[in-house]
Amino acid sequence: MNTSHAETISAIRRRRGASLVIMGHHYQGGLVIQHTDLRGDSLELARQVRGLRGAEHIVFCGVSFMAETAAMLAAPGQKVVSPAPEAGCVMADMAPGPLTDAVLRRLTADGRRIVPLAYVNTDARVKAVVARHGGSVCTSANAPAMLRWALDQGDGVLFLPDRNLGHNTADLLGLPESERAVIDVAAMGAALDPAALRSKSLLLWPGMCVVHKRFTAGQIREVRQRDPDALVVVHPECAPEVVARADAAGSTSFIIRYVEQAPPGAAIYVGTEVNLVERLAREHEGDKLVRPLVHSHCRNMAKTTEEVLAATLEDLDDIEPVTVPCDVARDAVVAIERMLEICR
Ligand code: 13P
Ligand code: SF4
Repeated sequence: MNTSHAETISAIRRRRGASLVIMGHHYQGGLVIQHTDLRGDSLELARQVRGLRGAEHIVFCGVSFMAETAAMLAAPGQKVVSPAPEAGCVMADMAPGPLTDAVLRRLTADGRRIVPLAYVNTDARVKAVVARHGGSVCTSANAPAMLRWALDQGDGVLFLPDRNLGHNTADLLGLPESERAVIDVAAMGAALDPAALRSKSLLLWPGMCVVHKRFTAGQIREVRQRDPDALVVVHPECAPEVVARADAAGSTSFIIRYVEQAPPGAAIYVGTEVNLVERLAREHEGDKLVRPLVHSHCRNMAKTTEEVLAATLEDLDDIEPVTVPCDVARDAVVAIERMLEICR
């Protein structure tokens, strides 16, 4: 541990008291997460922002779509600051706003009512487009409830950008594979054939998370050959064949609870970002064996280091807060509020 960065952070937190709140996603490394006041999965973090009315500064340790969501949910005058504003999300980048809009226009040109459901792992412009088309957002924790909602709204759903989360959620709802199609978004949607997609109620954007793509069904087979009693829990951003072979799948908070509730002495293999898995391994050492299915690291989550956090806190009054253009935020908030309303 770098004592000087830790001491700097602790001293600033003591001095600023309740006017400073540090939030962190479960994928942050141990040196950063130890300084957070609040941590959670994407849904919990979004919900918690609304309860922080007394804080002047919210420092958000995660990736940019999360900090943007916090900034849009913050009260007027509250500043959301990102220690690593350049930390994006590879999956979110796979569905840019103008392309999402073009694809939706093409899919609805013949009057078909397609309701978009965007994973929160999208930038604010995409959330705004989704709101304008009557849709909403979801997280890995509430995807089944939100997909059910979206399917009930129109003639079909466009789920974006994570095709794996879309397939895994459809599996949970029992939506047959014959009713799903992964769409071609090349050439601003010009490659799409809306007539050929008419029989499909779930249209899946062809995106995925590079961190969760590294987990395979073969790794689970090997674990089970080595230790038939081992438990396997994975994030639903993993491929459907991985989720199908695991004992359970769910959000980062679900995975934490799953490990906590596993019987003493259990061996648990986890298919998600390695910072979280290593922290769980440390916390349960001597009681349960927690191991990554394979070492998979999110380089964007890693951009917030203890050093970067300390430097951010030292310059807090001078750092530009995270902002979202007013017209984008106005619409994007509608999509986020719909989710918070449907999944209270
Ligand atoms: P959770 O909402 O499960 O925390 O997941 C966020 C994420 O980015 C997973 O890759
Ligand atoms: Fe994005 Fe995947 Fe990193 Fe999550 S783990 S922030 S989905 S790249």
